[in-house]
Amino acid sequence: MGLFITFEGGEGCGKSTQSRLLLKQLEQQNIPVVLTHEPGDTALGNELRRALKRRRDSFISPQAELFLFAASRVQLVAELIRPALEEGKVVICDRFTYSTLVYQGYGRGLDFTAIKMVNNMATGNLNPDLIILLDISPEQGLARKRSLKDRFELEDLSFHRRVREGYLKMAAAEPDRWLAIDASLPKEKIAEIIWDRVSRLLPDLSA
Ligand code: TMP
Repeated sequence: MGLFITFEGGEGCGKSTQSRLLLKQLEQQNIPVVLTHEPGDTALGNELRRALKRRRDSFISPQAELFLFAASRVQLVAELIRPALEEGKVVICDRFTYSTLVYQGYGRGLDFTAIKMVNNMATGNLNPDLIILLDISPEQGLARKRSLKDRFELEDLSFHRRVREGYLKMAAAEPDRWLAIDASLPKEKIAEIIWDRVSRLLPDLSA
């Protein structure tokens, strides 16, 4: 099995930038790696992503939202993540199951046990080896966005505060598996902290 690394964080935290920098760094070391993101990155997932993020006609019940994210995840795990891990690759995923616990659980108020059950069904109990949390205040994160376009970005500040608190709680509960980083640091510094941790996990790949 390869190494499974996921990025998590609130809006505007810089996950896509950092996941791309990590991809580059691994490619430079000739380590087989794939980068993917949720929701989306499969034909079905891209359709679900559009429905989930669409601003207009946008009433989706929290339960339906949970299942739509889960459906996108089932497909991504089956088509891309599991095969790549089985080939021994490093898989970097921009958002995964913890986004659901935080956004649909802390954010929307759905039951955590139910979310965990759906997550486990969607992934076949696949868990990341490392979760990188880019922590930023909602005020700072939202201000980084050029415009607030989708159903999540348009949620009020208290929703985004619950999301942040949820992430911080989960990271504190499992410090061995989470790397929480202050996302207001310069991006080069963040990349350095990430590389320091990831490079220590790499020898495990040959095991
Ligand atoms: P992003 O790709 O720009 O991060 O947008 C994905 C949005 O979907 C983001 O606002 C977080 C939200 N989301 C959930 O609410 N639950 C989930 O399980 C996932 C993967 C994302």
